[in-house]
Amino acid sequence: MDALTALQTRVSVSRVREPGPDKQTLEQIIKAGLRTADHGLLRPWRFLTVQGESLHRLAELFVEATLADAPDTSAAELNSARSKALRAPLILIGIASPKEHPKVPVIEQHLSAGGALQNMLTAAHALDVGAIWRTGPMAAHPVVLQGLGLADHESIIGFIYMGTVDGPKRELRDEPVSNFVQEW
Ligand SMILES: Cc1cc2nc3c(=O)[nH]c(=O)nc-3n(C[C@H](O)[C@H](O)[C@H](O)COP(=O)(O)O)c2cc1C
Repeated sequence: MDALTALQTRVSVSRVREPGPDKQTLEQIIKAGLRTADHGLLRPWRFLTVQGESLHRLAELFVEATLADAPDTSAAELNSARSKALRAPLILIGIASPKEHPKVPVIEQHLSAGGALQNMLTAAHALDVGAIWRTGPMAAHPVVLQGLGLADHESIIGFIYMGTVDGPKRELRDEPVSNFVQEW
């Protein structure tokens, strides 16, 4: 798929199944993220890949976080928390990791880190890998942040779920450019 087609046709894929992207395909996707605009070339990001048995470790971390908030959470709700880590063969965790810099504010670095995830979504689409960006309460939970080894200045900006597309892709929304642009 050419770059413009990928950019203009990407959709999120919420239902994915095994297998996840192989090592080479994943590397291509991550490389696309690393070409994101980055003021000062600070590389204000890092990524964790979670697959196989580690998905179950992540699931238990979600359970631990849920219990830390509400020790009497029902078994059904704990299963729901657990299942959030088990709905794709691979989860790439995007971490904003801003650097101290006299001219590049933290917000710009967060924007770059977000851009890296967006580039990866587009690359995944171009390679026919199903992918969706999710966050939710677990992305900000202190138990999760500590369990994943984030430093105090770091934050999770997204869980990118990836796998084989399961079922038809969503229809593209037709959005006229003129809805969003005015000549000034
Ligand atoms: C920062 C961020 C966080 C998101 N978090 C969630 C989420 O937790 N759950 C969800 O269903 N969609 C979430 N989304 C939205 C989906 O990734 C997706 O963009 C949306 O469903 C629209 O689909 P599309 O990408 O095909 O247009 C998030 C998107 C962004 C950019």
